Amino acid sequence: MAIRIGFIGVGGIAHSHLGRLSQIKEARIVALCDVVREKAEEAAKKYEAVSYTNYKEMLDKESLDAIFICLPPFAHGDVEIEIAKRGIPFFIEKPVNLYREKAKEVEKIVEEKKLITSVGYVLRYMDIVEKAKDFLKEKKIALVLGRYFGEFPRSPWLGIKEKSGGQIVEQATHIVDLMRYLVGGVDSLYAEGFKGLNKFENYDVEDASIVSMHFKNGAIGSLTCNWLLFGFQPTLEIVTQGIQVQYSVTSLKIISKDKKEEFQVSNDYALLEDEVFIEAVKSNNPAKIESDYSDGLKSLEVTLAANESMEKGQIISL
Ligand SMILES: NC(=O)c1ccc[n+]([C@@H]2O[C@H](COP(=O)([O-])OP(=O)(O)OC[C@H]3O[C@@H](n4cnc5c(N)ncnc54)[C@H](O)[C@@H]3O)[C@@H](O)[C@H]2O)c1
Repeated sequence: MAIRIGFIGVGGIAHSHLGRLSQIKEARIVALCDVVREKAEEAAKKYEAVSYTNYKEMLDKESLDAIFICLPPFAHGDVEIEIAKRGIPFFIEKPVNLYREKAKEVEKIVEEKKLITSVGYVLRYMDIVEKAKDFLKEKKIALVLGRYFGEFPRSPWLGIKEKSGGQIVEQATHIVDLMRYLVGGVDSLYAEGFKGLNKFENYDVEDASIVSMHFKNGAIGSLTCNWLLFGFQPTLEIVTQGIQVQYSVTSLKIISKDKKEEFQVSNDYALLEDEVFIEAVKSNNPAKIESDYSDGLKSLEVTLAANESMEKGQIISL
């Protein structure tokens, strides 16, 4: 039997998931909800589903096996609580929330109900990331250098701190999450931000930031970000004895004194992310999900700590 799917939020990323889910035999898109009626209706027409503007009405009227939550950060919280209370498995885009306490509330219900959840930390599904993880297993990591450089994507909410959380919480979270995945948990951090060059309407977030980090396993690291350049350039470099592991967008280099290996992503990692979630719901087995709600919350905690450090000018312990 096909998995009956509903969407809440039918913007940019929802359309990426919709396109992929329509390639998955076991997935059936049955209902779509967006506060902007036209967005829900247009997508519903395309995918032969029912449109809604109120997610509670959608949940009341439809019998859904899974929900894709593709909302902007500021709209998270009550939606996940409602879905979790009803015991419906969900996929949620990163970041899972803007407030730790609210995310903890969601996590509690998810755990009580033993719900299958997945968070959109899609880089974890890249074959090169798996290769890096295998390579680094049992190696003592000393230094971790993450970067998230690029231009400011012109979104109506991204440049407003209380709506998006800013660049670290909203976007560089992918690199923070890779750090956690490949290196381990963060113990403490100190962050500083720079403002004043970007002049977009309502924009009140940092143009650039730098975070100095200490990991639980003793490694030290940094994350530097800016929205002052062009394109999209996330990178992560990891240094262990005699070896550099360099991830950059879709490539991986493993470099030692005598050998330089380079690999390109060769799997459809975004499709895999959705396939794994659908299969997990179908089999009620989350084993292949790379990031569940609780894990996504841990990446959120690191990025919120960076914001707190920028605000207070203090080292934050996690
Ligand atoms: N994993 C990734 O690589 C990736 C890529 C892009 C975006 N994202 C994440 O996905 C999320 C959404 O980003 P986007 O680019 O699709 O944003 P978007 O602004 O294009 O779409 C969000 C949609 O949600 C709707 N919406 C807002 N509040 C709502 C509510 N209460 N009920 C129903 N609909 C509501 C909006 O009308 C809009 O259509 C963000 O958190 C972003 O970080 C993840």
